[in-house]
Amino acid sequence: MITKVNAAVAYIQSRYSTQPLVGIVLGSGLGSFISEMKIKAEIAYTDIPHFPVSTVEGHEGKLIFGELGEKKVVAMMGRFHCYEGYTPQEVVFPIRVMKFLGITTLLISNAAGAMNLNFRVGDLMIIKDHVSLFTVNPLTGKNEEAFGPRFPDMSEPYSKRLIDKVKTIATKENILFKEGIYCGVTGPTFETRAEYKLLNIIGGDAVGMSTVQEVIAAVHMGLEVFAMSVITDLGIREEENKITHAEVLHAANEAEPKLTHIFKELVAAL
Ligand code: HPA
Repeated sequence: MITKVNAAVAYIQSRYSTQPLVGIVLGSGLGSFISEMKIKAEIAYTDIPHFPVSTVEGHEGKLIFGELGEKKVVAMMGRFHCYEGYTPQEVVFPIRVMKFLGITTLLISNAAGAMNLNFRVGDLMIIKDHVSLFTVNPLTGKNEEAFGPRFPDMSEPYSKRLIDKVKTIATKENILFKEGIYCGVTGPTFETRAEYKLLNIIGGDAVGMSTVQEVIAAVHMGLEVFAMSVITDLGIREEENKITHAEVLHAANEAEPKLTHIFKELVAAL
C-alpha cells in the first residue's frame, strides 16, 4: 500500500509540486465548492497510478489543486464508496495520498438521511461522532506503521477545535445547524423503515454511505478532521416514504451554498 501511495504522490508532484495543507472531500451534489477555489491544477483520477476511478452519477473524478484565500487546498471531485465495489483500502487510498502530499486537515461533506425527528430536509449537521455499521474497517490487514498505529484511538475522530470554529462561524453568519451522530453503512440500498428505526434507537441522527472509512484512515494518520452532512431525506415518516437518488441530489444542491460558505470560512480560520 505504501509503495502505491508513494507512486501516486510522485506522479502528482511531477504535475503540480505545491504542498496543500487542507484536503477536501465533497459529497453527492456538493461539488460546486470548487468554484470558490483559485484553481491551479486539475489531475484526473484516471491519470494517477493506482487511483480508483469513480462511477456514480453526481461524482466526477479529479483532484483539484488551488487556493482558497491564502490557503493551499486540494479537493477531491468525486469520492469512492464500497457500494461501487471498491475495497475499503481503495476507498481510503486518496486520503492516504492527500496526507502524503502534506495535508494536515481534512474537511468532508456528505448527503445523509435523517433519523432524528427534529431534522428537516436541507438541514446541515455537524458530525460530532460516528457509528460504523456493516462496513469493513479500512485498517483491516497488515498495519503500515508509516501510516499510523495498529490500534488507533477513536475517542475524538472529529476535532472539537474545528467543530467550535464552525459553530462560531455559523452563529455569526446566521446559518442554522444541527449536530449529531452519523451512521455509516455500505448501501447502495437506502434503509428499510425498520433499519432507520434501528439506527435511531442506537443513537444515530443521520445515515449515509460514505465518510466513516475516510475518517478512520484520516485519524489513523493523525489528520485533524471536520465533517458535515446535508440532510437530503427523512427516514422516519408514517406516510409513503420512497427515497430516490434524484431527490438526494436535488436537496444537496439546494443546501450547498450554506455548506460552501461554512467550509470557506473554516479554511480561512485555520
Ligand atoms: N440513507 C443512506 N445514505 C443516504 C441517505 C439515506 O437515507 N440519504 C443520502 N445518503
